[in-house]
Amino acid sequence: MKILFITSEVDGLVKTGGLADVAYALPKALIAMGHEVQIVMPAYRKTIESWQDWPAKEFNTPISHFVTETVQAFSGEFKGIPVVAMHHRASFSREGLYDDGNNAYYDNCFRFSVMTKAALEWCKLEDWQPDIVQANDWQSAMASFYLAEHYKADPFFKDTRSAIAIHNGAYQMHADPHWMHQLGIDPRFFNPEDFEDNAHLNVLKGSIGFADAVTTVSPGYAEELTTDLGGHGLDYKFKSLTQPFRGILNGCDYDQWNPETDIWLKSQFKTPDDGGKAICKQDLQQELGLNQGDQIPFLGVICRLVDQKGIHLLIPVFWNLMAHHDCQVVVLGSGDAKMAAELDEIQNRYPDRFRFINGYNIGLSHRIEASIDAFLMPSIFEPCGLNQIYSLRYGTVPLVREVGGLRDTVCKLEYSRANADEATGFMFQHLDEETLLQETLRLLDVYKHDKELWMKLQNNGMAKRFTWEKSAKEYEKLYKEILALPKMKHP
Ligand code: ADP
Ligand code: GLC
Repeated sequence: MKILFITSEVDGLVKTGGLADVAYALPKALIAMGHEVQIVMPAYRKTIESWQDWPAKEFNTPISHFVTETVQAFSGEFKGIPVVAMHHRASFSREGLYDDGNNAYYDNCFRFSVMTKAALEWCKLEDWQPDIVQANDWQSAMASFYLAEHYKADPFFKDTRSAIAIHNGAYQMHADPHWMHQLGIDPRFFNPEDFEDNAHLNVLKGSIGFADAVTTVSPGYAEELTTDLGGHGLDYKFKSLTQPFRGILNGCDYDQWNPETDIWLKSQFKTPDDGGKAICKQDLQQELGLNQGDQIPFLGVICRLVDQKGIHLLIPVFWNLMAHHDCQVVVLGSGDAKMAAELDEIQNRYPDRFRFINGYNIGLSHRIEASIDAFLMPSIFEPCGLNQIYSLRYGTVPLVREVGGLRDTVCKLEYSRANADEATGFMFQHLDEETLLQETLRLLDVYKHDKELWMKLQNNGMAKRFTWEKSAKEYEKLYKEILALPKMKHP
C-alpha cells in the first residue's frame, strides 16, 4: 500500500508532544510491514538543518478560488523514512510551531491547510498515487475535505481513501468564519452538520465528516469521545459517524525506550533489582542536587504544562507530600507560566526534595523514566498517553487516572491486592486532589512496607509490551477495509 502520512511533528525532527512519537514510529512500523510510506510535514525554521540540503521542488498550490500559494517541497530521508518538508515561507519562517510563546498564531488554520493541500498537490506532481492519506489531528484533517470536495472529479485520487487520527480531541481549531474563503470551504458547508460550530469555523469537526475512517489513539478514548463528558463538545458528531470509527492503541518504540540499551542512562538494566536502576536513581539525585538515598521514594512527572495533565491536582498534593511525607519529586515540563511559577515556589521551599525543570530535555526525560520509583499522571483526559507506557518498561510504577488510554494500558492494583500477579500500577477516578493524595499515599505505603509486592508491580510492568507492530497491523486492517468500501458519500 502507498500511504501518505501528513503530520505537524515527527520525533527526532521536531516535537512538542506524543504526536511526534507516533508520527515517527507508526510510519516506521508500516514500512517494516512492506508498505510504502511518505511523511509530509511543515518545513519549520527550527528544523532548517534537517532539510536545507535536500533537493527542493517549487510548485503552486491552489487552496481556494482566490488563493494559490507557492510552496517548496524538500524531499529527503530521516532514519530510513521518506520525508517531504513543505515550506511555505509566509507560514513557516517563524520561530514557533503553533505559537509565539504566548499566543497561538492568528493564521494557524491557514498555515497548516497550505501544508496539507500542498501534500496532495505534491503527490500529483510526483505521480505518487496514494492508496491512503492518513491525516493527524486538526493540522492535517482538511486532507479529507480536500480529497472529497476539491479532488472529487480528479481521476488521480479516484481510488484514494482518507483517514483522520485524533490524537487530542480538545484541539479542534476554531477560527473566524472569514477563513473559509481562504481555506477553500464552500459557504454551503458552513452549517451545524459540517464546519459551523456556534458561529465559528471548526476545522476538526467539519473535516471528520469527509474522512473514510476516523480513528483515535485508544479504545477507551474512542468510547469517551461519544459521551457528553469526554467528547469535547463533539460527542454528537462522533456518535453519528457512519464511517468506521475506532480506537487503535498507540505503541511504544522499544528501540528508543529500552532500559537494556538506553544510551542516556548512567547504567542500563534488565531487571528492577540488578543494580542498574539503583545506580540511575543515585545518578539522577546527584544531577538534580537532591538528597541521596536509595530508600527515599522518588516520584516524577514529565509533561506539557497544560490543564489536560491535571497539574492543578498535583500542586496541592506536592505541597502536602513535602510537608508531611518522606519522598522526593522531580517535574520536567514546559508550558503554562502560572503553573511553572507554582512549581518553582515548591522547589524554593523544599530545595533538597523537590526539583522542577522548566524546559524540554530528551536525555533527562529518559533518565527520569529510568531512575524514579513511580510516575504520576493524573490527567483530566488522556487520549493515549505514552509516558505511562515508557514507565512500565523501566520498572517505574505508574499512578494514573482511570481515563482514556491510561485505563487501557495500566492494570490497577485492587484494594484487596488480590490481583498482584497482574497489576502494574495505581489508578484513581475522582478528579479531586484528596483522591489523588490518598492514592499516592497508598503507593508510598506499598513502596515502604511491602517490597515484595512493589517488585511484583515492577516486574509485571517491565514484562508488558505495547508494540507498534501490533498497532500498525490494526491500521493496515482498517486501511484494507476502507479500500474495499465505496468512498464516503457526503450527504
Ligand atoms: P502529550 O502528547 O499529550 O503531550 P504523551 O504522553 O502522549 O502526551 O506524550 C508526550 C511525549 O512528549 C512523551 O514522549 C514525553 O516524554 C515527551 N515530553 C513531554 N514533555 C517533555 C519535556 N519537558 N521534556 C522532554 N520530553 C517531554
Ligand atoms: C496527544 C495526546 C496523548 C497521545 C498523543 C499521541 O497529544 O494528548 O494522550 O498519547 O497525542 O497519540
